[in-house]
Amino acid sequence: MHRNEKDWANSVAEKIYAKSKASAERSKDKIPYLTVNGIFDDWSDRINWWTNGFYGGQMWQLYHAYGDDIFRQVAENIEEKLDGSLMDYMGMDHDSGFKWLLTSVANYKMTKKEQSKNRALLAAANLAGRFNPAGNFIRAWNDSGDGNTAGWAIIDCMMNLPLLYWTKEQTSDPRFSHIAKAHADTAMKVFVRENGSVNHIVQFDPETGEVTGTLGGQGIQVGSSWTRGQAWAIYGFTLSYLHTGNNDYLDTAKKVAKYFAQSLPESGFVPVDFDQDRDCEWEDSTAAAIAACGMLEIAKCVAEEEEKAFFHNTAIKLLTTLEQHRCNWDCATDHILEKCSAAYHDKEHNFTIIYGDYYFTEAIFKLCDKELFLW
Ligand code: GLY
Repeated sequence: MHRNEKDWANSVAEKIYAKSKASAERSKDKIPYLTVNGIFDDWSDRINWWTNGFYGGQMWQLYHAYGDDIFRQVAENIEEKLDGSLMDYMGMDHDSGFKWLLTSVANYKMTKKEQSKNRALLAAANLAGRFNPAGNFIRAWNDSGDGNTAGWAIIDCMMNLPLLYWTKEQTSDPRFSHIAKAHADTAMKVFVRENGSVNHIVQFDPETGEVTGTLGGQGIQVGSSWTRGQAWAIYGFTLSYLHTGNNDYLDTAKKVAKYFAQSLPESGFVPVDFDQDRDCEWEDSTAAAIAACGMLEIAKCVAEEEEKAFFHNTAIKLLTTLEQHRCNWDCATDHILEKCSAAYHDKEHNFTIIYGDYYFTEAIFKLCDKELFLW
């Protein structure tokens, strides 16, 4: 990495620190997801929501990098509240990695607190219990009254597998990594398309394991390329490579990353779906930040200089574009990243979302050696 890149990342890290310190003071008891007039809302009363670990993760990244106790306190408060989800069987779905890697595993890595390890192991056991040996996939969601989702798997799940790899390391019980690898192998076959793009949802017959179709999910339609799904695949397959050393996972991550890079508009702003109309101004800055995290890791894994530079420089373009045009550095507001979207067919677009801030912070901290690696 160029020295001036590291200097730039350090200066952005300082801005993240100043902003997060102010927001943490204001948000001691909150579990933020969105903002209202620039101030975090609070999802403590919707404790099963999949994003409820991200602010805790953000706080652990800052505690690790800067040491202010306020960050640890806010993170531990969120972790305790998440016990409400851990004790709610129907509230537990495949997103346990997002919730407990960023809170309990982070806490355990930093403090060796046994209670945190226990929480993460319980969450991992529940996640492993979602594995369907008929189709070799981890079931995504529980039914919410809109149809039978027993056979649904989603690309996002690649990001939850590290909780299983971590549990294998902690317990020496290979069931956990067998399940993670089996799901990743299936995902390579059924999610990734010939051109390197990925499906969001794949439907299996949960009795026979046969693939019965794909769904557009949070993208435009069947066959389109929801950008955050592409980003989950880039980072997720890279993480499975880092935990297993299986080159097929790295090759898959590279293939999706190349597709993502080639599909980027000249502006560097990431649309919600790569197949949306060119004049549609809906963006998803979260996809940019997640893809940048994945590409920075890929760049570290590949040996060939030209390839290394391609992934690294694409990540830098995504991050500098976000920093110059999509970050809010006013310490009177809580959020960092702007122009994020949850799903193409939602009514609202171009707002703030907590995991955008988390992955932007993680990417910047990777560049200036401040990261607490949590995946
Ligand atoms: N994991 C759900 C999403 O990315 O919106």
